[in-house]
Amino acid sequence: MPNTPSFPLSQASRAGSPQPINELIALALADPSIISLAAGLVDYKTLPVEIVSAHSPGILEKHGQAALQYGVTGGLPALQREIFLHLSRLEEAAGHKLEHCGPAQVVVTTGSQQLLHILAEILLDRGDIVVTCWPSYFVYTQALASFGAVPRSVDMDEHGIIPERLEALLAELHAAGQLPRVKMAYLVTYHQNPTGITLCAQRKPVILEIIKHYSALAGHRIVIVEDAAYRELAFSGEPGATPPSFRAFDKTGEHTVIAQTFSKPFAPGVKTGYGLLPLALVGPVMQAKGGRDFGSSNLCQHLLASVMANGDFDAHVKRLKAAYAAKGAAVVCALEKHFAGVQGVSWSRPAGGMYVWLTLPAGADTGPGSAFLKAAMDEKVIYVPGVFCFPADPARTAPVNTIRLAYGVTDPAQAAEGVRRLRAAWKKVSGE
Ligand SMILES: Cc1ncc(COP(=O)(O)O)c(C=O)c1O
Repeated sequence: MPNTPSFPLSQASRAGSPQPINELIALALADPSIISLAAGLVDYKTLPVEIVSAHSPGILEKHGQAALQYGVTGGLPALQREIFLHLSRLEEAAGHKLEHCGPAQVVVTTGSQQLLHILAEILLDRGDIVVTCWPSYFVYTQALASFGAVPRSVDMDEHGIIPERLEALLAELHAAGQLPRVKMAYLVTYHQNPTGITLCAQRKPVILEIIKHYSALAGHRIVIVEDAAYRELAFSGEPGATPPSFRAFDKTGEHTVIAQTFSKPFAPGVKTGYGLLPLALVGPVMQAKGGRDFGSSNLCQHLLASVMANGDFDAHVKRLKAAYAAKGAAVVCALEKHFAGVQGVSWSRPAGGMYVWLTLPAGADTGPGSAFLKAAMDEKVIYVPGVFCFPADPARTAPVNTIRLAYGVTDPAQAAEGVRRLRAAWKKVSGE
């Protein structure tokens, strides 16, 4: 057979890399005796089959063929209105207000991932810098590589990104003449993927002022992209349990995007996300979206508008909070039971969402090919090696002693058993 030449893949394709956790997830699927604390999937049992069944006939009755036709690029107006109300209520519950904006600044996208991609596409040129947390949501930071963007990262503590470190990084970039390349700060602020940490309310205005200050020095607006994918999933229903967004402090809304999704608080199967955008970005985002798919699923948008309008969405979120709270508590309890007193081991204590971040002693290696990962697989438990979650910051080397534990799909007892197995694996490897 003659030699078939290879496809001349684009620079963007060559700059990307396969998602590293796919292999781990495939392993867990192939062997049901493995407990997967790796996949960031949502709780299977709470997926809203009854709500979707109850709303679907009414949608077809009321809207008929229109629900099955293409919609408009920016989103179904009824859903834009419901989303805007939802965002307003979230701010009000946190004692704040959304000002100087309306439903027309809401853009509905095919998952929030699509909005994040579009923002990268319209804001970033090759070599541009995106400031992010260390660690961060790796699917996006890896996707940024295909745009040729360079992530520069800032440390977090238990209250989220540390403003002084952010300021220090921007000052360093300014001194090096690189500020004109800084276009975006990408921050996952609620129950962060991968650490479970929430950025506290007090830091948000401080960070916003830092970004505004360096925007003035850069000569362009640096945008804060607040990825609030897990915002609704606070374990506690107490008012104030969920901090206000950056947008609440950014009164005129010139510096902040909120990106949210229905994947986590409702169902990933509807694959619908949305953003509240600065006015100046609405046009460019719509244009980019128009070129991609000229609008997200109209049927799903009708469904979501209906579910939000009659209160079923809020009632569902309430049930979800309880389900994730039980899982999160089971993981933290199990960590306390099995790892308490183990020198150099610590973990985050999330107040919502579906992730716990476990740090093993300095010198431990949890990465691919490590003895620990092999021991964990022998114990039939898998996790995401933390090393995958650190952005490819050219100035830093990712530590290899951390682990992301995702408890979205496992039930509380299974998740606790998974932690026990991790402890057994650590015993084997550390020789304690
Ligand atoms: C932090 C974060 N942002 C965005 C997404 C994308 O979600 P979707 O595109 O389903 O809305 C995810 C998915 O896991 C996530 O964890």
